[in-house]
Amino acid sequence: MSKLVIRGGVPLRGEVPISGAKNSALALMVAAALAKGETVLRNVPHDRDVSTMAGILRDLGVRVYFSEPHVLHVDGTDLKSDTAPYEPVRQMRASFYVAGLLLARLGRAKVPLPGGCQLGSRPVDFHLRGFEALGAKVNIEYGYMQAEAPRLAGATYFVNRASVGATVNVLMAATLAEGTTVLENAAKEPEIVDLAVLLNSMGARIRGAGTDVIRIDGVKELHPGEHWVIPDRIEAGTYMMAAGITGGDLTLRNVELNHLRTPVVKLAEMGLHVEPQEGGGGTGSEAGATGLVRVWTDPGAKRLRAIDVETAPYPGFPTDLQPPLVALLSLANGTSVVRETIFDRFRFVDELRRMGADIRVERDTAIIRGVAKLTGAPVEAMDLRAGAALVLAALAAEGQTEISGVELIDRGYEDLETKLRHVGAQVLRITEKNGYGNRTIDPSPAVDPVPLLPARKSTANKGADHGDGYENEGGYQHAEPGGQ
Ligand code: UD1
Repeated sequence: MSKLVIRGGVPLRGEVPISGAKNSALALMVAAALAKGETVLRNVPHDRDVSTMAGILRDLGVRVYFSEPHVLHVDGTDLKSDTAPYEPVRQMRASFYVAGLLLARLGRAKVPLPGGCQLGSRPVDFHLRGFEALGAKVNIEYGYMQAEAPRLAGATYFVNRASVGATVNVLMAATLAEGTTVLENAAKEPEIVDLAVLLNSMGARIRGAGTDVIRIDGVKELHPGEHWVIPDRIEAGTYMMAAGITGGDLTLRNVELNHLRTPVVKLAEMGLHVEPQEGGGGTGSEAGATGLVRVWTDPGAKRLRAIDVETAPYPGFPTDLQPPLVALLSLANGTSVVRETIFDRFRFVDELRRMGADIRVERDTAIIRGVAKLTGAPVEAMDLRAGAALVLAALAAEGQTEISGVELIDRGYEDLETKLRHVGAQVLRITEKNGYGNRTIDPSPAVDPVPLLPARKSTANKGADHGDGYENEGGYQHAEPGGQ
């Protein structure tokens, strides 16, 4: 178990590289296995969820490995098992994507149902109805979904609540179905567009991704492709808020600002400046892209302003940025109202309250009365984005905060403390095995720099099942209940 120890109060200044989008990468990894042959995915974040997905795919016979940092190879030639491993799939919700893969490639799938999690009940009924619409027979038995269809058949399917996961799963399955599938009320998130771009480069025929009607003309087979994963808009939004909460001045590299329109409007309303910078190329979505965005607060402005926000499917305010936003608003001047419409995810406010935040929750709404200061405390990250909220609060708090449950934050923030330290934050990771025990941070920390990526194993013997080329990252024991 690890803890992050953060001494707050330092305005963050400098440049932060934004990683590839975790949520996109998870879907792309599975989609790549729809083809026989090796697909190369670039700009893949090396976080725990990606490692978990790699482990699951390997279990099914898919070859997955990093040839160099952020370059992931996926080869579905030997996909043979129709049964996904119980524990990791149960724990990480996105791993249910392998259901669409197995149905499309093998005509049958036995995949554990993901469990409930900190974000409340998260069923997969919309995914299952979608498979049924494509002609699959679906049963739930002994905790598994069992589905069968010798060849899926195109159909029209209305995606309830514009579910991202159901859109991904049914879209993938439909690429190899007989005939045309129309997904109505499909999710419009940039990750769906990214998925369609990869699949089309592999020979799929998908139109309309990014709108709420997606048409997929099924093809007999797909061929391998090569793809650059879009930048992580949630990570970028989190660092924007880190600049805001510390009164800092950050330049974020590799950002697709178009994917962050609503959050940027809301941050601007609070008084935070977010502007693309010359020389950045304006976009982060192409190979080698350097979309630069500067985020800063007015040096004279004491506090940001309170605002009202409601989460919504894209292009609305993303639910994954709601917890970090609540942390930011807890120090704003005035009272903010935040309504959460996607998940039940306000439990983390108890931890913010320990740090002095004044937040009342009534059903799906948090009422946040901005306070002048937060103070450090021992707190626990209950899920990935709740953890990000606590990190932000800790960066601004007076004194020292110890955040436990860091493994959950590692699911979706690559090199978090390295990136933070590079811009001046006083952050230390304490793991039980590194002998630091309960040591506190030296106020002028000479923290050893952490390499950007874990030490690599030789990839000379790639065919073996250790696959991803990194020490201690091959399995899926890291996954925690909660699944983003
Ligand atoms: C994805 C993202 C997650 C993000 C969420 C909403 C990934 C890996 N995860 O999650 O980070 O917070 O979109 O933007 O990309 N629902 C059902 N039945 C279903 C499916 C969903 O009732 O079969 C409900 C959910 O409980 C939720 C809503 O529909 O209330 C939307 O969920 P969905 O868009 O499917 O989220 P995920 O794909 O799980």
